[in-house]
Amino acid sequence: MKIENLKGFDIVGNIAILKFSRNMKGKEKKKIAEKLLKKNPTIKTVLEKTGKFKGRLRKQQTKHLLGIKTKEALYRENECVFRFNVDKTYFSPRLSNERKEIASKIKKSSKVLVMFAGVAPYSIVIAKKSKAKVYSAEINKEASKYAKLNVELNKLKDNVQIIQGDIRKTVKKILAHSRSQINKKISKQNYLLNKNYVESRAGRRLGVISNRVSDNERAIKGGVIVRGTLVPHEFDFIVMPRPQLKESFLKEAFSLSKKNTVVFYYDFCKEEEIPSVKKKINEEAKKSKKKIKILNVKKAGEIAPYKFRVRIDFKVL
Ligand SMILES: C[S@@+](CC[C@H](N)C(=O)[O-])C[C@H]1O[C@@H](n2cnc3c(N)ncnc32)[C@H](O)[C@@H]1O
Repeated sequence: MKIENLKGFDIVGNIAILKFSRNMKGKEKKKIAEKLLKKNPTIKTVLEKTGKFKGRLRKQQTKHLLGIKTKEALYRENECVFRFNVDKTYFSPRLSNERKEIASKIKKSSKVLVMFAGVAPYSIVIAKKSKAKVYSAEINKEASKYAKLNVELNKLKDNVQIIQGDIRKTVKKILAHSRSQINKKISKQNYLLNKNYVESRAGRRLGVISNRVSDNERAIKGGVIVRGTLVPHEFDFIVMPRPQLKESFLKEAFSLSKKNTVVFYYDFCKEEEIPSVKKKINEEAKKSKKKIKILNVKKAGEIAPYKFRVRIDFKVL
């Protein structure tokens, strides 16, 4: 077996995905696949990676090589189980430690938003380990279908809500609702202010009015129904395992943040470019009129020679 010709591989439960060098012959590939199946009884299917993760949905292409003809994986990590189609959804077993680490930072009973959630590995590991209430937002319909199945498989229906759709549209809906609630509240306040001012001595009555206002504010914090799910307006934690695309989606994250919200933001860059990623986060915070403190910067895996997945954790002050 010419292992030096194997450019890389991932094992996702019952499926092994092999990446070969271009010049490798079909016969050689089959030999390697046979050896792998013999050595690892848990692997039932060997696929060849024929196209890298690309596009907005971050889908890869694979070709069946040997074993059971399926693209559906059943994979376990962090005491959780995940089912997904390896071509129709994004999944990386290399991020299992990231999921564990983030889950360990999340407090029980907090509200967590996972943007770009895929088949919900972050959402499920976080909910399982922290018992937080997790909202899992993903644009790929197929991934959301598996996410729902995975929530059921892990018995987390009370802790994880799947929100299918573009995160920008989801955020717009949440903000539109909170704005309309605030407008309603203001007109009610104005009405009460006028009524009470006319009816009574100003000082004492105004005290009563301000109590009513804070009752209203609590009601607003209840949230908004997005595609049948009650979603909060603000989150304690926002996890952003972003696709490798231009948009930072930081504006959306800031708009759902409040004092002390912690954001786990992923980006992709060379080591020497990390300061410019930090600068971008600070600039976006300023644009959104938020102050932040960077808590941690971590290289979370090499994605190409000298290019890294970087995680920057920051707190909204
Ligand atoms: C790098 S993958 C991460 C998936 C998942 N968090 C994981 O670790 O397996 C990025 C995901 O973002 C989704 N995505 C891309 N643009 C999106 C958008 N505008 N709104 C919501 N999800 C989006 C893609 O479909 C993809 O599943």
